[in-house]
Amino acid sequence: MQLIRRNRILRQSPAIRAMVAETILKPSDFIAPLFIVEGKGVKEEISSMQGYFRMSIDLTVQEVKELWSLGIKSVLLFIKCNDELKDNKGTEALNPDGLMQRSIKAIKGACPDMVVMTDVALDPFSTYGHDGIVDGKEIVNDPTVAVLAQMSVSHALAGADFVAPSDMMDGRILAIRLALEEAGLTRTGILAYSAKYASCFYGPFRDALDSAPGFGDKKTYQMDYANRIEAIKETMMDIDEGADIVMVKPAMAYLDIIREVSDNVQVPVSAYHVSGEYAMIKAAAKMGWLDENKAILESLTSIKRAGASLIATYFAKDAAKLING
Ligand code: PBG
Repeated sequence: MQLIRRNRILRQSPAIRAMVAETILKPSDFIAPLFIVEGKGVKEEISSMQGYFRMSIDLTVQEVKELWSLGIKSVLLFIKCNDELKDNKGTEALNPDGLMQRSIKAIKGACPDMVVMTDVALDPFSTYGHDGIVDGKEIVNDPTVAVLAQMSVSHALAGADFVAPSDMMDGRILAIRLALEEAGLTRTGILAYSAKYASCFYGPFRDALDSAPGFGDKKTYQMDYANRIEAIKETMMDIDEGADIVMVKPAMAYLDIIREVSDNVQVPVSAYHVSGEYAMIKAAAKMGWLDENKAILESLTSIKRAGASLIATYFAKDAAKLING
C-alpha cells in the first residue's frame, strides 16, 4: 500500500501519544465534595459510596490539607443536618454557628488558600427533603429564593469563597448576587448549578445526607433529562443573573450538554460527576469487572474533553494521586 497519511504514526509510542494528547487532566481541574457531620473523630463510610466518608470537622480539616498537598484547589461542602434541627423554613441553614458555617471557618483557618465552595439548597435542612420550602404539595419558588439568598450571605460571612446554589429555583442567582452586593461581599463567587437534571444518579448522595425527598420527586424544579435547549436557556439566564461559573449535572450521561453549553458561553464550565456515577465504577471494580483506576481517568478525561474545565468528583483525591504518579 502507498498511503499519504498514516494516522497510526501519531499513536505508535507513549512519548508521541503524550505529545499529541489534546486533553490533559490536572489536579486543579477537580473540586472535591466533602460530607461533614457533627462530632469529633467521626469517619463513617457511606454504604452506597464505598471508599467515601462522612467526617466530622476535625477529620475534614486533615483531609483538606491532604487534598491541598496533592494539588487540589477547591472543596465543595455538604453537611448532614441532625433531624431535630430540620424544619420547613431552612432555619438551621441560616444559623451563624451551624455546622456549615463552623466547617467553613475551620477549613479556611487551617488551609486559607483552599477555595471553599458551599452547597446552597434546603434539602439537607428540610423535614421534607426538598430543596425548597413546601406548601401543600408545592415547592414554592419565591419564598425559597429569599432564604437561599440569606443562606449565601451567611456562608460568605463565614468565609466561603464561592456559594454553589444547587436548588434550581427561578431567579436565585440574581437574588443571591444582589444580597451579596448589599452585604458588601464583593469577593464571593457564584458557581451556579445551571443545568441540573432530575436524575436517578443522585441516589447515593441522598443516602449520604439522609436527604431523599419525603414525598414526590424533584421534577418540578430540576430539569427533564429529555431536554437540551432548556439547558442552554437555564445556563444563559444564570450568566445574565451574575453566575461566575456554571455547571452541568450529572456529567457522563450529559456530555452532549456539557459540549453545547461550553460552545455557547464565555464563563468557565464545570460538571458534576455525581454520586451514582462514582458508585457504578466502584461497584463494577469491586466485582472485578472494570479496572478502577483506568475507569476513573477515562471518565474524567471524557468530561473535560466534552468542555468542562472544572469537575466536581468523588474521585478527586484518587485522580490527583494517579496524575501525580
Ligand atoms: C442538593 C444536591 C444534590 C446533589 C448535590 N446537591 C442532590 C439532589 O439534588 O437531590 C447531588 C450530588 C451527587 O449525587 O453526587 N440540592
